[in-house]
Amino acid sequence: MEFETILKKLKNVLDPNRFNHSVNVMEMAESLAKYYGADINKARLAGILHDCGKNYKGDDARDYVKNMGYEPDEIEMLQPKLLHGIIGENLAKEIYGVTDEEILGAIRWHTTGKAGMNLLEKIIYIADYIEPLRSFEGIENMRKVAFEDLDKCIVYCSESTIDFILKKGVLLHQNTVETRNYSLMLIKYRKTKYL
Ligand SMILES: [Fe+2]
Ligand SMILES: [Fe+2]
Repeated sequence: MEFETILKKLKNVLDPNRFNHSVNVMEMAESLAKYYGADINKARLAGILHDCGKNYKGDDARDYVKNMGYEPDEIEMLQPKLLHGIIGENLAKEIYGVTDEEILGAIRWHTTGKAGMNLLEKIIYIADYIEPLRSFEGIENMRKVAFEDLDKCIVYCSESTIDFILKKGVLLHQNTVETRNYSLMLIKYRKTKYL
């Protein structure tokens, strides 16, 4: 599907705030892709589509993934918002005609991240966090670090998510913890030859 068609379709289905956020994520992903030498078109497409599964909430989200043959884990069942990545991945394939595995992976993992993300997955995870509409304590530093060290930025993003989740008192998904630990380990590995 043509990029312009995808843009129009998304504008129709997403609420205006979500659509503006998606455009911002697309632009931020493009800047990061340029800086780190990733594929710019893939970054733009993954950025604009990353939240295309956001309209599925509660039982709609649970039913959607079950129909896909995906068995949600306990935390995803209790917090079905966590499913919008996998739903988005599927919609990107079925509705928007995306076949590229890197783009699909970046959409799938953008919410929690995971251990061992590839470059595009890291870019979308970070772009979602630091796009210009976001505002919270520490974001200026995150925006700066995003253009210095992707792994360090992911540590900051996942720690900020963990912080937020602890304050809110809701369940913390293991993938968020693994995202943080894995990125921190990558940084530590760089500093020693003994690990
Ligand atoms: Fe999202
Ligand atoms: Fe988002």
